[in-house]
Amino acid sequence: MDINKLLHNMTIEEKAGQLMQLAPFFFIRDLEIEVAGNVSDIGITQKKIFQSGSVLGIRNAKEMIDVQKRYLSQSRLQIPLIFMADIIHGYETIFPVPIAISSSWNPELAYQMARVSALEASSAGIHVTFSPMADLSRDPRWGRVVEGFGEDAYLSSSFVKQMVLGYQNDGIEKPGNVASCVKHFAAYGAVEAGRDYNTVDVSRLFLHQYHLTGYKAAIDAGAKMIMTAFNTVDGIPSTVNSYLLKDVLRDQWKFEGVTISDYDSLHQIVDHGCAENDKEAALLGIEAGLDIEMASSCYVNYLKELINENKVDVKRVDKAVLRILELKKELGLFENPFKGADILLEEQLVHSKEHLAIAKKAADECSVLLKNDHVLPLKEGVRVALIGPHAQSRSTNGSWSWHGKSELNSTLEESLIKQDIIPVITLSVERDDQISKEDKEILKTCDVAIIAIGEDAYESGEARSKTDLSIPRKQSSLVQLVKSLGLKSVVLLYSGRPLMLDSVLQTDALMYVWFLGSQANESISETLSGKINPSGKLTMSFPRNVGQIPIYYNYYTTGRPKEEHVQNEYVSYYLDVPNSPLFPFGYGLSYSSFDYHDLHISSDEITPEEKLSISIEVTNKSNVAGYETVQLYIRDYVSKIVRPIKELKGFKKVWFDGNTSQVIKFNLQLEDLMIIDAFGNEFFEYGKFSVMVGPNSENVISKDFRLIKESKQ
Ligand code: BGC
Repeated sequence: MDINKLLHNMTIEEKAGQLMQLAPFFFIRDLEIEVAGNVSDIGITQKKIFQSGSVLGIRNAKEMIDVQKRYLSQSRLQIPLIFMADIIHGYETIFPVPIAISSSWNPELAYQMARVSALEASSAGIHVTFSPMADLSRDPRWGRVVEGFGEDAYLSSSFVKQMVLGYQNDGIEKPGNVASCVKHFAAYGAVEAGRDYNTVDVSRLFLHQYHLTGYKAAIDAGAKMIMTAFNTVDGIPSTVNSYLLKDVLRDQWKFEGVTISDYDSLHQIVDHGCAENDKEAALLGIEAGLDIEMASSCYVNYLKELINENKVDVKRVDKAVLRILELKKELGLFENPFKGADILLEEQLVHSKEHLAIAKKAADECSVLLKNDHVLPLKEGVRVALIGPHAQSRSTNGSWSWHGKSELNSTLEESLIKQDIIPVITLSVERDDQISKEDKEILKTCDVAIIAIGEDAYESGEARSKTDLSIPRKQSSLVQLVKSLGLKSVVLLYSGRPLMLDSVLQTDALMYVWFLGSQANESISETLSGKINPSGKLTMSFPRNVGQIPIYYNYYTTGRPKEEHVQNEYVSYYLDVPNSPLFPFGYGLSYSSFDYHDLHISSDEITPEEKLSISIEVTNKSNVAGYETVQLYIRDYVSKIVRPIKELKGFKKVWFDGNTSQVIKFNLQLEDLMIIDAFGNEFFEYGKFSVMVGPNSENVISKDFRLIKESKQ
């Protein structure tokens, strides 16, 4: 297909149509009725609908085929639609939510999750997924932390990269692969006060140093599309922000793929107060380099007028259209407009045993054990009570799992029974005062209570911001009750974000189980029984209280740092709580117990050409085999641009048999010591650095070295 020739034959209306994305119902429902309702809301005619370029969200292969057929039956140029959808952590086989997957510290799992998602979604005729979300999350009030990979740019980028590679695999033209659209460009995770869609005001330095890293990682991995964010950056909505869309994306990063707005976000720049009306929004969007507008109609309604008035150069529109046609061509849609959609294959693949097994293995690495006073794993024969709203719930898929069928998931009770852990009593209650006297008597006869509490599956996610992050609905009263009855307790916390855990810390064991997807409760039960040794570690710092937010491990020292055990009022600290989080980034226990010792570095001086080799011995002092994630941090002590007190530069998740030691090795090179400035330029400075290795960001062993101009020898 010669797309330049095709472009040449297109009318302005047809070109503008390619830049519009609509939901499937526009094409298949009774348009007479729709035109009176939804369709008329965005002011487009049936003719314009059948000139649009892509579709958002599709239920299955059959619907895709219906929509494409209907569309092509009315399309003059026979340019097929592309089908895009949000496949975030699985299509129907649901994997752990992204924040949970990142807690595995095993990016390979993200790759597998993306592979399974691509296989299932492509069989339904989906060509592009709106994933991964590369927004850095430092504020758990923001509900969308659930969709991201945590607070650290390096770790998050490792996951983002594997997601893109997993989706696109050996090429988007091949069957079973989908194109990746990274989102939400840019800095959506930095919304003020954690309120979704709110203003973002970050310095250019933090933008480049932290927030842009993930999107860049996706693009470097080959992501074909990028979605703009709802928020402003430097006072300009991201959707029409030419610094982001041109200077950074096209000029610095050389991105050649397609840009798309978020849902209705081109039109919403009118609400931002950045354009007076849709016509102005269209002008700003096309000028800034926005290709597709999702779910609004500014381009389709006004581009022609703007071109006729010489306000928009048609060449700009042509460029955007060409990028979209190029993507269609690369996907092979001109040869086969129904690419992927296969009702039979869909039935075989979706939620298949094989896929569920992969999701289960992923879930096994994502729970984070935060406390364990010798209760877990549960000893054989203990009398167990099961309490809490998640005891008999199947709702373990978590946000953005719209194809997932939670009714097919097991409850915790059912999964425990499969592990031969048969609860003496199960109480699906939220609070202590919902438990009767008689049931309390039964509870007293038990040894351990498993208390399954936390958020509902849809309490985190888009538009799910909160100011109160305490355990919801007085559920922590269950922990107090159990303690007063003299039982041991194990709290399982289902959640999509860090919650304040102070009210449940008196429990004997605490495991953060997020929303682990289709196989959540199987995995949790096997972990409780000891079949699985937990290995997750936090990827967001857990604050002591909401007042500490934003809290993250890689902060600046400040001019008045708080030194431990030094009494000085005029330093950077709080009167009421320590500066440190309750649980730090990188923290997580297992049933094994690891000791770090003998940190060696190859030299105490290196030149820019040299590598620094680092080794540390890690010993599993227990007889329980398990994984340990060894983390490497650095600190650059002196720089023109102040550096954080720690920066993650490497990690290795290693399997240890019981009572064994291994020497874990890392290398550092110049690229790990680079500094980024407020313009996105990288440079380095000579001087003193520190290497730190440990099981989490707080507990590290360190050694200093210097980056010098010339080697002494
Ligand atoms: C979300 C995006 C999503 C889009 C399409 C928006 O509301 O912010 O993440 O991809 O909807 O469903």
